[in-house]
Amino acid sequence: MSKRLRIGGAIVAILFLCLPAVGQQREQSGGRGGNSVGENGYREAADYVIKRLGLRRKSVVVDIGAGDGWWSSKIAEKLGPKGVIHAGEVNEKKVDTMKEKWESVPQIKPYLCPTDGTGQEENSCDLVFISKTYHHFDKDTHVDYLRHLKKVVKPSGRVVIIERHADLASGRGKEHAWQPGLLGQQAEQAGWMLLRCELIPGSDHFMAIFVMPEAFTEKLSKRLTATKRKQSKGDQ
Ligand SMILES: C[S@@+](CC[C@H](N)C(=O)[O-])C[C@H]1O[C@@H](n2cnc3c(N)ncnc32)[C@H](O)[C@@H]1O
Repeated sequence: MSKRLRIGGAIVAILFLCLPAVGQQREQSGGRGGNSVGENGYREAADYVIKRLGLRRKSVVVDIGAGDGWWSSKIAEKLGPKGVIHAGEVNEKKVDTMKEKWESVPQIKPYLCPTDGTGQEENSCDLVFISKTYHHFDKDTHVDYLRHLKKVVKPSGRVVIIERHADLASGRGKEHAWQPGLLGQQAEQAGWMLLRCELIPGSDHFMAIFVMPEAFTEKLSKRLTATKRKQSKGDQ
């Protein structure tokens, strides 16, 4: 056998041995392949994301476009037994699969949600989490959807949206991406205030966190009143 053939054979063997590891990594990180750098990195950085959600033990979370419930399960781990995660899906089959898959995790409550809203009651949620689903919303309905979220989220709550950054996507990935700037404009139009927006480490996805400006102005005015009171006591 020639030297060139032996080297070629060795390379093929190495690639063959590596394939199961790549498959396993994709499985762990969401199971979908792709040609984009950091395709599933947004899942691999789950701990980083979860830390920034502002969760409390008794939080009520709505995971819109929950898919296989992967994020719902990560959030459930963080919340513990007292939290609730409504895992909303427009796809009935996915709802049924989630019900089976997460049967032993009672905090996760899969449900069939409408396409134009969460289906949740007013002032009932601490967090609405929307991962890779915002771009699926019908054209020109995004601002209305965000306005709806202002009704269902409690004044102290937040909305977290994860999408692939449109400038970093290529090929067909562009159809499943969003501009953070456009999201910011739409959220502001709906009355939300951007708390932070950042790339998720190791991925081409960004995470935007929105809060209600009213919650801050209320806190601020309470603090100002308290300070004024202290000052006037000191003057007496
Ligand atoms: C790309 S998957 C994201 C799954 C999961 N959130 C994640 O980050 O891996 C998008 C999901 O959103 C669902 N979906 C599409 N439009 C929706 C809508 N208007 N409301 C709720 N879910 C929607 C789809 O059925 C699909 O399961």
